[in-house]
Amino acid sequence: MPQSKISANAYHEATKHSYLSVQINPNYVDASTQPSAFKFYPKFYRRVKLNVNNPVHSFISLTSAITLEKEYKDSLDKLRVNPSAGALYPTEVYVQVRKIPGILDGIYHLEVENNCLTLIYELIDDGLESYIIPDKSINGFIFLISCVYYRSSWKYQNRSARYCFLDSGHHLGAIAASAYLHKKDIQLIFDFDKLGLNLALGFENKEFITACAVSGELQEKQVRPLRIKVPFVCGTDYFEANQFIEDTYQATAVQKSSEQTLKQPHFSFDKDKFLQTVLHRRSIRRFRKKSISQEDYLYIMQQLQQPIPTENHEEIDIYSVVHRVEEMSCGLYKGTHLIKTGNFSEQTGYLCINQAIAKDSAVTLFFVSDYLNYQTAMQIAGFLGQRLYLASNYLGIQCSGVGAFYDDETQELLETNKDVLYAIVIGI
Ligand SMILES: Cc1cc2nc3c(=O)[nH]c(=O)nc-3n(C[C@H](O)[C@H](O)[C@H](O)COP(=O)(O)O)c2cc1C
Repeated sequence: MPQSKISANAYHEATKHSYLSVQINPNYVDASTQPSAFKFYPKFYRRVKLNVNNPVHSFISLTSAITLEKEYKDSLDKLRVNPSAGALYPTEVYVQVRKIPGILDGIYHLEVENNCLTLIYELIDDGLESYIIPDKSINGFIFLISCVYYRSSWKYQNRSARYCFLDSGHHLGAIAASAYLHKKDIQLIFDFDKLGLNLALGFENKEFITACAVSGELQEKQVRPLRIKVPFVCGTDYFEANQFIEDTYQATAVQKSSEQTLKQPHFSFDKDKFLQTVLHRRSIRRFRKKSISQEDYLYIMQQLQQPIPTENHEEIDIYSVVHRVEEMSCGLYKGTHLIKTGNFSEQTGYLCINQAIAKDSAVTLFFVSDYLNYQTAMQIAGFLGQRLYLASNYLGIQCSGVGAFYDDETQELLETNKDVLYAIVIGI
């Protein structure tokens, strides 16, 4: 990929939706031309079938598992623990396993459709650490999230880099949920040598690493970079390049993120109920326009306030447009602070490209930020989005991400100059 001249702000600005832009370019696609949503390495690679009764297998499997098969007239959608804009699933997961009994030390691709690990690289004295946390070795797991961007740009064109980053954040959230269920701490890492890893893993320009989640025991030890390059395998059955997306990825892969001290969240979910929530998480298609209780709403918001386990952080401001919460005035809130009173449901419906879910919700939330690193900020927004899904669904409250909104007009409603990264709705 060529050295980029694009900035994150220029990308965000150029991919804003407006009433006019959506009229001119409504993103209609011929569904029969959809690129494949699953990546497979060739048959000769060694595979480990994941057995959910084995806790290590279950930890890995639950990060990406298929949880519902939905049949349409001409297609079958395989829905997963992680949501995805347009159910296009651009994200892939790789996991390095070191010194875990019963699994050969190596780098594996998680083959989601067959619930198995494909061994793509055997470790000797080398590994992913040298690209991520030099001079350390991890006895445990290093998850990498990548995006096969054409799966999303096929439909959403230039705006799809936003969805790739948000989806990646959701996927990190799915890893965090699986780690929580398996009593493991994780640390998210956004600032590392992503470009070096893309080369080492043989991704060419067709797939790119967005984030890493580490779980295990850290040791002071030098690990060599991968001694040989992993062969290129395409994540789709066909491909069309988008230079704008590739340049945006490059530019946002090398910028430093803001910093914070690492802190772990502490949740007190009932584990069995939380597991069922993870397995049954879904996006709502239509609300019944019922109110939710204030207690439930505040509980959900509290889960969002829990620390995000990373040192590479970007601050996200959460705006809530409250339509239907018992004992709460309708209006726009920043956190719990009421900014303006009023029923803005028609407005949020309009702003989210006339989607009824943003009008009929109990609350329509907007995540905004004036980040240093856009790729990190979008992923943190997606990560919080996954938390919001799970905390809501845990209480029987429905949720959906909303990636499409009129950017400038949303900023006007929120009275902010910061970029609007993501909208998300909850309700019943
Ligand atoms: C980043 C993102 C953006 C989304 N945007 C929308 C949207 O604008 N409208 C909508 O109805 N659903 C939206 N969704 C929900 C997806 O359509 C949904 O996740 C996908 O169809 C898979 O279904 P599931 O979440 O029930 O597993 C979005 C999801 C994500 C993660």
